[in-house]
Amino acid sequence: MTLGTAIALCAGLDACKAPPESRYVSDPADARHGLEVIERVGCGACHEIPGVGWPEGNAGPSLRGFDDFGPIAGQLPNTPTNLAAFVRNAPLAKPGSPMPAMPLSVAEARDVAAYLHGLDDG
Ligand code: HEC
Repeated sequence: MTLGTAIALCAGLDACKAPPESRYVSDPADARHGLEVIERVGCGACHEIPGVGWPEGNAGPSLRGFDDFGPIAGQLPNTPTNLAAFVRNAPLAKPGSPMPAMPLSVAEARDVAAYLHGLDDG
């Protein structure tokens, strides 16, 4: 079919939307590395994060069930690219954000985003 037909078919059909629980499927190896990075750079100092037992800081919002949230930090569409950019340099991704830039490489930030998008429950 032509591209135009595909778009027309999707326009009115819920079937074309990904179900909320599985919008992004993270590679398990990336996600595992992301958790190591989260522990190394200390995101837990400010966030409660599933899989991170300690610390469980509360300067930032809890990331329990993060995947189910709407926009990132109330503003950015919740895509892997935006999430990776935000966790690496929040004030750049969202001007005025109180979360500091974190010492992550681009690849590390991508894996951190994979971990957070891989969270599926509390
Ligand atoms: C110094 C404290 C601090 C540290 C360290 C920190 N954050 Fe944050 N984080 C915040 C604050 C404050 C916000 C709220 C930002 C906003 O609303 O713009 C936030 C917001 C977030 C959000 C958006 C949450 C939502 O509900 O949309 C994510 C995701 C996040 N942080 C992940 C991380 C990750 C991953 C790390 C480690 C790489 C990290 N944070 C390190 C303070 C911190």
